[in-house]
Amino acid sequence: MRKPLIVANWKMNHSMEDALKFITILQNKLTFKPHAEVVICPPYTSLYSLSVLIQEKEGLLLGAQNCYYGESGAFTGEISPTFLSELGVSYVVVGHSERRNLFGETDELISKKVQSVLTCNMQPIICIGENINERNTGKTLGVIANQLKQAISLVDKTDLGKIVIAYEPVWAIGTGQNATPGQAGAVHQHIRGLLVEASNQNLADTVRIIYGGSVNPANINELMREKDIDGALIGGASLEVDSFLQMVNYREK
Ligand code: PGA
Repeated sequence: MRKPLIVANWKMNHSMEDALKFITILQNKLTFKPHAEVVICPPYTSLYSLSVLIQEKEGLLLGAQNCYYGESGAFTGEISPTFLSELGVSYVVVGHSERRNLFGETDELISKKVQSVLTCNMQPIICIGENINERNTGKTLGVIANQLKQAISLVDKTDLGKIVIAYEPVWAIGTGQNATPGQAGAVHQHIRGLLVEASNQNLADTVRIIYGGSVNPANINELMREKDIDGALIGGASLEVDSFLQMVNYREK
């Protein structure tokens, strides 16, 4: 049984003051359901303050939106996974399409980040997804297979159960146009199949595959009903506490 994962990706939003307010209100309103893990990925600058608050409430976890793969050294402006782990970060988003498209991250760089996040005993949330041209020309499944294969190329088979895959079609991110449950479900099933090929059925069955791209309180129930959708990576709709809370409390399958 896979534990659903509801992840807030705040991107470059919420000052530290706003972040602290958000978490305080969330903690007061949250009644945890043991079946879901809730992860907040704030900007780096709020990680420490939130880590102090979050530790006090079981079930709420901290994530980072990115990291570098090196442990330390002359990498001006970068953040090591070791530093994140020290703050009690549990998950790190790796290979988000904004990192790939706006900051030129390559599949090779992403594979190194995935590996180093695992080495630091955190779980990578590996983002993969096709753009609109690729979807319109029938290349979606091929693109997904290639991105996944490269992202996990350095991961030891025995560690595959620790990864999380986020299927995020680029055309659905921040556009208000989510993939339909049918479209997302089909890609998630394909990803599960690829994980079986990379390891075995038992291990592939333990990996959470979450969906991201314009998830909101109105569409989350339907998306979560798909058998291979194990959670959501939420951007815009995670910025307001009430909206996020509605998605945390989505109706169970
Ligand atoms: P969105 O972003 O929910 O605003 O579409 C999702 C993401 O980029 O992770």
